[in-house]
Order: sequence, then structure tokens, then C-alpha cells
Amino acid sequence: MIERNELLTKIRDAFSVNRIVCLLGPRQCGKTTIARELWAENGKKISDEGYFDLESPVDLESLENPELTLKPLEGLIIIDEIQKLPRPFFPVVKLPSRIASVATVFVKDSSKEVIA
Ligand SMILES: Nc1ncnc2c1ncn2[C@@H]1O[C@H](COP(=O)(O)OP(=O)(O)OP(=O)(O)O)[C@@H](O)[C@H]1O
Ligand SMILES: [Mg+2]
Repeated sequence: MIERNELLTKIRDAFSVNRIVCLLGPRQCGKTTIARELWAENGKKISDEGYFDLESPVDLESLENPELTLKPLEGLIIIDEIQKLPRPFFPVVKLPSRIASVATVFVKDSSKEVIA
């Protein structure tokens, strides 16, 4: 395995000042692997609430109403392949600011339309 400790440290540091961290990178560069590592180090299993893999139709459907789905969640939220949402940033800007502990990792590809 290519060692990714420096990148993991950067992501942890980014969460100390930001609620949302966006992980961008070309296809197959290891975004999902990093996301899963972060999830595991937060003591979570892949089946636990808050990890969304939008390659999965079930997870994609669950974010059709992002406010309902995301509001009750606390702690780390990971949305992998977020570019599959019609309005990728909508779910997160709608998160209530009172949940100060919410931290979100976007794991997505580097397509320009996503970050435009
Ligand atoms: N640190 C690493 N060292 C070596 N191989 C790795 C590492 N991280 C991921 N890989 C391997 O690279 C491949 C792609 O990893 P991963 O699925 O995490 O990438 P991705 O960026 O999420 O891909 P995609 O763009 O398709 O979503 C996998 O076969 C994985 O096992
Ligand atoms: Mg991936």
C-alpha cells in the first residue's frame, strides 16, 4: 500500500477549522479508500448510519430528501460519489448550523461541473 498518513493528517487538520472537507482526485486514485479509513478510525462500521455511497441506488434514493436524511445525523458524514446528486452541495448547506459537531467528507471525482 502507498502510505497516505500525510494526507490523512491534512484531512484531520482541515476538520479542526472546517465543517466540510472535500476530497477531490482523478479516478482510482484512492478517494474511497481514504474515506473508509477515516470512517473506521471514527469507530464506525461501513453499515453504520452516515456513510453514503451514491453508486448504490439505495443510498442515492435516501438522499432524495437530504434534509430529512441528514438532519438527525451527528458526527462524521461521508458522501462518496456526491457528484451523482443533481445539486451536490444542497444537502450540506442545508445542514443545521446548530449541529456544530457535524463533519462531512465529500468524496468525489474531479469533474469541473461538480465544483462549478
Ligand atoms: N494507498 C493505496 N495504496 C495502494 N493501492 C491503493 C491505495 N488506495 C487505494 N488503492 C487501490 O486503488 C484502487 C482504487 O481505489 P479507490 O476505489 O479507493 O479509488 P477511488 O479514487 O475512490 O476510485 P473511483 O474514482 O473509481 O471512485 C483500488 O484497487 C484500491 O485497492
Ligand atoms: Mg471511489
